[in-house]
Amino acid sequence: MVEAESIPIRRRRPWFLTFFGLLAVGGLVAMPVLAGKPGAEEMPDIVRFLGHFHPFLLHLPIGVFVLILFQELGATFGKRRAQAGNGSLFPLFFGVASAILAVIAGFLLYHGDGGEYGDNPTAERHLWGGLFFAIAAVLTFIAKAWTLALGANPAAYRLLLFGSVGVMGFASHDGASMTHGSDYLTMYAPAPIRKILGLDGGKPTVPVKAAADQVVYTDIVAPILERRCVSCHKADKSKGKLRMDTYELLVKGGKNGPAIEAGNAAESNIVVRMDLPEDDDEHMPPEGKPDIEDFEVAVIKWWLDSGADPTKKLAEFEVPSEIKQALAKLTSVAAAGAELAPGHPESAKEAGPDDSLKAVVAGLSKEFPGALTFESQESELVTFTAVSLRGKLDDETFGKLGPVLPHLATLDLTATKITDKSVAALASAKQLRVVRLAETGVTDASIDTLLKLTTLESINFYGTKVTAAGVQKLAAMPNLKRLYLWQTTVTPDAVKALKEKMPKCEIVSGS
Ligand code: HEC
Repeated sequence: MVEAESIPIRRRRPWFLTFFGLLAVGGLVAMPVLAGKPGAEEMPDIVRFLGHFHPFLLHLPIGVFVLILFQELGATFGKRRAQAGNGSLFPLFFGVASAILAVIAGFLLYHGDGGEYGDNPTAERHLWGGLFFAIAAVLTFIAKAWTLALGANPAAYRLLLFGSVGVMGFASHDGASMTHGSDYLTMYAPAPIRKILGLDGGKPTVPVKAAADQVVYTDIVAPILERRCVSCHKADKSKGKLRMDTYELLVKGGKNGPAIEAGNAAESNIVVRMDLPEDDDEHMPPEGKPDIEDFEVAVIKWWLDSGADPTKKLAEFEVPSEIKQALAKLTSVAAAGAELAPGHPESAKEAGPDDSLKAVVAGLSKEFPGALTFESQESELVTFTAVSLRGKLDDETFGKLGPVLPHLATLDLTATKITDKSVAALASAKQLRVVRLAETGVTDASIDTLLKLTTLESINFYGTKVTAAGVQKLAAMPNLKRLYLWQTTVTPDAVKALKEKMPKCEIVSGS
């Protein structure tokens, strides 16, 4: 090692900081590797308690890094270079420490919510983006410490800093997309800006091209899928790991392989799903969504059977007369959709919430700030979470939600004062998928109501008075994938019996 006194240095060499920095990097990398994917087992409350700090903590490094970025840009390009830079390590240290804490909290959030994010590619990418940012931040910090100690050229440090901020941008964008929907920033953008960003593609439009010039996939098939399927099969919501927003992604397919087989409609997964009886669990689009019209299905099948070419024009196909009729019907549907100003959210009539529902939700949001939100801009489904209300929510206040119950997809009433009476009102919540009744006064009486909600996929009875006799009835629920019975009187034997009756459902009982 070079003698410290032999070269001009301003500070002691930061071996200590470097060591701990690298240790932190090792810990960050090890965290997801050791923990694996989030499972269904109920996490202790402390995990969720700490996890819920994520949305708070994450803003600290963003502020700090943006500030330092501007300082360094000033130092690099500004006129008074010497004064612009920052010779102190503390701000960066603060930024790095808060980034690490934010990542840890985010990780606990990911795992604490019982696998809710387990199947969400945006969540996964966000996790890795955040982790990667924290690592880049630590390395930036180490680089700055050495730059200052050696009085060295700050180029390497600055490069790392700019890189870190770039990664931070990506990670934050994914995070924001998950909480607000990917179109949050642009949803009210003026029409010209939406156009520049290419946001109006795929909406039903009157075919402006002469019919023969239409590319069958782009101008006819893709808009049908866009209207009927893409709301659940796209970048940040790829159900069944399937995206349907481009031709390539249809070919790539989902969990069960390619979604389309060129030349063979009958073997194409999308057709198989659309042709299932409407009350089949696997029918697409799922129950609760307006079903796809027969003439739309006919057109898709014809295109697949004719070779599913993504670029061929209508004129190049042989069009049987029943397909001509179907295409004519399709044009009138598209024309009806396009009568609304293009680009206005309302033009996606089938997919988006209508004005009266929006007004009701807006009204109730004033009463329950932050608790009631649409699942996404295109969705007419809503989520209600009583996290911030808890003990303030009782049967009477819950009653005010009556008008939106038919649109509820997720309902979190954990630790509120509601009873079986509120659950009885859920009889009209015919689209409900997830309901959390943990630590409330509900009893077996609620189970009788829930039995009628065949869309339910997840029920949380953690810490309630439900009994073995009551929960046995849930075996009849067709779509139930998760059931939480932790801290109830249901015995391990009863859980075992139930598990046998519903092998597809994960039952979390803590024993
Ligand atoms: C309301 C949301 C929603 C809509 C709309 C929707 N799907 Fe799905 N889709 C799902 C869910 C959830 C799954 C995963 C569960 C399953 O496989 O049934 C899925 C799975 C699939 C799969 C299986 C993918 C695989 O490889 O396992 C196909 C194929 C499919 N959907 C096709 C369609 C088609 C075609 C449409 C439009 C006509 C459509 N979906 C509309 C929610 C939706």
